[in-house]
Amino acid sequence: MIKVQRSKKLSGFVSIPGDKSISHRAIIFGSLCVGKTTITGLLESEDVKRTIEAVRQLGAKVEKKNGKWEVYGFGVGGFTSPENVIDCGNSGTTCRLLMGAISTTPISAIFVGDKSLSQRPMDRIIEPLSEIGVKCTAREGSFLPITLEGTSSAIPPDFESRVDSAQVKSAVLLAGLNSRGTTKYVEKTLTRDHTERMLMFFGGKIKSEKTDNGYVHYLQGLQELKPQEITVPSDPSSASFFIAAALMVEGSDITIKNICMNETRIGFLKVIDKMGASIEVNNKKTICGEPIADVRVKSSRLKGVKVPKSLVPSMIDEFPILAVLAALAEGETEMKGIEELKVKESDRIFSMAKGLRDCGVNVFFGDDYMTVKGTREVRGGQLINTFSDHRIAMSFMCLGQVTQKPIEISESASVGTSFPGFVEKFKEIGANLSSQTSR
Ligand code: S3P
Repeated sequence: MIKVQRSKKLSGFVSIPGDKSISHRAIIFGSLCVGKTTITGLLESEDVKRTIEAVRQLGAKVEKKNGKWEVYGFGVGGFTSPENVIDCGNSGTTCRLLMGAISTTPISAIFVGDKSLSQRPMDRIIEPLSEIGVKCTAREGSFLPITLEGTSSAIPPDFESRVDSAQVKSAVLLAGLNSRGTTKYVEKTLTRDHTERMLMFFGGKIKSEKTDNGYVHYLQGLQELKPQEITVPSDPSSASFFIAAALMVEGSDITIKNICMNETRIGFLKVIDKMGASIEVNNKKTICGEPIADVRVKSSRLKGVKVPKSLVPSMIDEFPILAVLAALAEGETEMKGIEELKVKESDRIFSMAKGLRDCGVNVFFGDDYMTVKGTREVRGGQLINTFSDHRIAMSFMCLGQVTQKPIEISESASVGTSFPGFVEKFKEIGANLSSQTSR
């Protein structure tokens, strides 16, 4: 358990660990090349460790040498059947991307996960894979454990996604890499495009265009990828917690270096800008096909906003921390079209609404929306259930920096999923947190 109390100002320079989505993909793409891929700044979180272990089981060699990670793969189509189940732990990205990546190689694998992942829908992956001829047997048709039997004679799909999901898109594209012919994938809104960017960085080709129907991606199969040296930028989703805390705590001024500023990831920055946040973006650069920059944030008085639906996919992981900011803003913040939050590591609409209400905030919510009524002073004084969800835990650790009464957070172990060392880093810039018991 963690006790969180009001802090004085937050200040200083912060370095945030590597981006989670890019880290998973760097390992997977490395394992799809013959030869050595080197990764600098890989996020060493529980989720990414699951992907490392999984590709090792599929035949790749992955090791850390002199602070960098090295991946030696066997090329597209080179995976071998794992001897044991692939345990994805809490990681939807590991499970969904790897189901796609192995599906067009004639091997079989059993995917399992923890309690939360075993309740998350996998039919969104099974459906396109079935269409190309892959056999998946899932508990109740959609849930882990899943047995997947890959095929060597995949029929490339012309697939239109029902959900805006980068994991589904990536699974289909990774499957298409080892299929004959062209894979076509259509999504209504452009979701995070790290797979497309990294594919090109590894020497592959993909054509993406905006049409009246949405975004269409064409991928020619049987491409050869070339090993690369990758540097992973800092994770904008992890940065959002420190950004939010600095906005809320009076007198704060922090700078976060090298944040990934990919357009498909910065919806949160756009929304807080509308809310009146004082944000400066400096030192814009590009590394390994991804734009990065340093972001300076100063505490600001925020006002409520209507979050445009079009921005939802580009800030899908930032809604818990946005809800916290909304609680402190002047007026109401409306979040609509957020049904995907119900199938994240926890039902994030419910988890956030419950925690905020417990702290005395007025929240209205339904299956696809949440409205938070802002108040200058949030009471707090409660034990908050994180539902073992890393982003809920970090969100309330931020809120506790400004509540009138201290709050307690039910656990902090989940934070290791995406941001190992969060508590220590947060303390370094002045946050007020203390462990109540050792876990
Ligand atoms: C991710 C995509 C998103 C996001 C998740 C990581 C990815 O999930 O929530 O944390 O790396 O592709 P969905 O694809 O389910 O939206």
